[in-house]
Amino acid sequence: MPRGEEDRALDLDPRDWDAFAGLGHRALDDMVGFLRTVRDRAVWVEAPDDVRRQFDADLPVAGRDFADVLGDFDRLIKPYATGNTHPAFMGWVHGAGTPVGMIAEMLAAGLNANCGGRNHIGIEVERQVTRWMQRAFRFPDTAAGVFVTGTSMANFLALLVARNHALGDDVRSRGIVGGPQLVAYASKAAHGCIAQAMQLSGLGSDHLRLVACGADGAMRLADLEAAVAADRRRGLKPFLVVGTAGSVDIGAIDPLAQLAGFCRQSDLWFHVDGAFGALLAFSPTMRPRIAGIELADSIAFDFHKWAHVPYDAGFVLVRDGAAQRRTFASANGYLTRSDVGLAAGETWPCDLGPDLSRGFRALKTWFTLQVFGTEHLGNCMAQTCDLAKYLEGRLQAHPDFALSAPVALNIVCFSATGADADARNRRIVERLHVSGRAAPSITLLDGKAVIRCAIVNHRTTRGTIDRFVSDLEEVARDLP
Ligand SMILES: Cc1ncc(COP(=O)(O)O)c(C=O)c1O
Repeated sequence: MPRGEEDRALDLDPRDWDAFAGLGHRALDDMVGFLRTVRDRAVWVEAPDDVRRQFDADLPVAGRDFADVLGDFDRLIKPYATGNTHPAFMGWVHGAGTPVGMIAEMLAAGLNANCGGRNHIGIEVERQVTRWMQRAFRFPDTAAGVFVTGTSMANFLALLVARNHALGDDVRSRGIVGGPQLVAYASKAAHGCIAQAMQLSGLGSDHLRLVACGADGAMRLADLEAAVAADRRRGLKPFLVVGTAGSVDIGAIDPLAQLAGFCRQSDLWFHVDGAFGALLAFSPTMRPRIAGIELADSIAFDFHKWAHVPYDAGFVLVRDGAAQRRTFASANGYLTRSDVGLAAGETWPCDLGPDLSRGFRALKTWFTLQVFGTEHLGNCMAQTCDLAKYLEGRLQAHPDFALSAPVALNIVCFSATGADADARNRRIVERLHVSGRAAPSITLLDGKAVIRCAIVNHRTTRGTIDRFVSDLEEVARDLP
């Protein structure tokens, strides 16, 4: 053992760096190969029982060879992933990721930066992404933003900022008991995480009014106005309107500019849940569809959906950055700031949300934006909307299927025609999944189970859609 190395007996570094690098290079090549050939594989393969059983093994007390564990990854994990990298994956609203994002994740893991705070370059990268989002949404320089897991969390944080704004910052210590009852409003098509945010905040989902939508799935302003007036008459305190830019079921967009105007007149916080739709701001052709988003008090969205940053990369942007800071920042002795050194810097990400230990989500987002640019990303989004229109056209002309909702963006909901449509739709989707040919999902519209294709993937083409329609026909034909 070289001198001075005696106390290295326990460190977790490789004993043979060259051998480690060889394995690392092979793992990288394998994953590049995996992504390069994604179109040739099944969308999804269910992990067989004997594979699942491998995950019942005991907590390892003694370690194993890295090469063996990599072998397990290749055999037991890699073949059975979700499938959202595949062009025929159209279920839920999943981003596809990119090879660039994969490398950025690896680089971030190498640095192992804790981006809760402190004076290091990771915080600077996150600040730059925040400034870029200020520009993208025409928010002022005083706006603040922070990465979170996803839009569910981003909506929750925005709701807390709005709650503090309505009740005063001392609600943090005083609590909400004894204060006026706050009421929030969103459309009936709003994502379930808005009701959940009301529950988690202590305001209660009974105090979320779900406002009716028109035939296009967008919130009806007149109904919102009536609901707010009725609550005021009852002595309740309306505080928040959540507009949706891209509803989860059908991709509908609420009348954002009108909602913003109403909120301004009525002294209400206007938040936009733009989980996937907000980043249409990158597309010159689609951007007009979300006009009014720039008037919001806060916006929640995901880089991991339509911008294809690898999971996870949610973001919340708040116009009044000071209000966001007042909602979350705490003076803790162990986080004391200094003028210089590693503890310098005024606002740290941990002052803008509840997370203290945080990974470097900003890096994979920064790489994605740098390498592709907003124009290319925006064009990919617009292309998926064109493909949705193409699929809509194919289904409109089809005798065995009927559209179930208007196609506003990139989501097509449709149903088998004839008797037993609900059960047939479910069976069709199950069989497509199990065959590995395509992965749409099921949603319920007016209580009816319909097939839902959310076309998000940058790899999806017209050829994918044509194959999907023939697979659909074949599977439907073979149903008993
Ligand atoms: C409109 C909308 N809001 C919120 C969410 C939740 O986002 P996340 O899954 O990133 O928490 C989604 C997810 O698809 C969504 O479509």
